[in-house]
Amino acid sequence: MKVTVVGAGYVGATTAQRIAERSIADVYLVDIVEGLAAGKALDMAQAAPLVGHSSTITGGTEYEPAEGSDVVVITAGIARKPGMSRDDLLATNGKIVTGIVEEITRVAPDAILIMVTNPLDVTTHIAMQVSGQPRERVMGMAGALDTARFRCFIGMELDCSAADVQAMVLGGHGDSMVPLASSATVGGVPITQLIQPERLQEIIQRTRDGGAEIVGLLKTASAFYAPSAGVTEMVASVVRDEGRVMPASVLLQGEYGIDDTFLGVPVKLGAGGVEQIIEVELSNDEMTALQASAEHVRETVAAWEQLSA
Ligand code: NAI
Ligand code: 2OP
Repeated sequence: MKVTVVGAGYVGATTAQRIAERSIADVYLVDIVEGLAAGKALDMAQAAPLVGHSSTITGGTEYEPAEGSDVVVITAGIARKPGMSRDDLLATNGKIVTGIVEEITRVAPDAILIMVTNPLDVTTHIAMQVSGQPRERVMGMAGALDTARFRCFIGMELDCSAADVQAMVLGGHGDSMVPLASSATVGGVPITQLIQPERLQEIIQRTRDGGAEIVGLLKTASAFYAPSAGVTEMVASVVRDEGRVMPASVLLQGEYGIDDTFLGVPVKLGAGGVEQIIEVELSNDEMTALQASAEHVRETVAAWEQLSA
């Protein structure tokens, strides 16, 4: 199997490394900066005898070597600086993503597309529009990351393994995301029985601010270890046809009472891409929050349509 990763920056290069080192697929890494993808790919290839994997990893500025890719991950674009929202990236990243998806559609028209570039739900909308692919084959990574953050913070609070925390974050990848407290459990025990409501609200807010917290610490970059781990889980589930269930940004067409909007919801990922959209029962408050999140995504898409008109 072959995966192309576009953007050899923090998220792209770390994703390429994770995919190769877990022997999930051969990797082609692309970046607009001359030498960047080729250099990082060569460095990763030289690590292979030490790490012990047999994936091929190459890099360059051209799109032709992406031909035959089963999955293409797009991480290219600018990242947030302190004080910026993800939506502040729209004008620049919307154009970058449009150009890249045109190139990918030319050389690998059947590849399943996984978007990472922010603002995530809108770049995923752009990718589907530009590629003309069906909704099953175009998705965005954010829910896997936001959910991992929520699980991590619950694990920290209870001083227990985050691996035993089951939880989900739905909605757009931004301030309007919807961490589901009602269904979160630790080893099968509802967290609402273990964490006081006020403290739980603080953990939910920290999850919403999870990306900004990292930007505030790093100052010149945004998160990449957990994001690349999130993308790698999605890629593995598609490439190995694992049928993993996790939230991802997909085009809703009536599910959750929402139409024609990309939003993070639980999906089953397999060889066909998004093989099932799962509708979980939500409380009234959670449903209201999900609708508000969808409205925010629609407003950002409308802003993009004005910018690109
Ligand atoms: P970065 O700045 O380290 O890397 C971006 C790379 O894209 C650079 O190497 C740059 O040269 C390349 N690039 C720019 N224009 C290009 C083009 N036209 N063609 C090919 N390559 C191009 O940024 P980082 O930290 O890797 O983040 C990348 C994007 O991912 C940002 O938009 C960031 O906000 C987003 N992100 C999204 C997450 C999510 O959960 N969806 C999580 C983390 C980051
Ligand atoms: C994050 O949540 C930057 O969207 C990215 O870390």
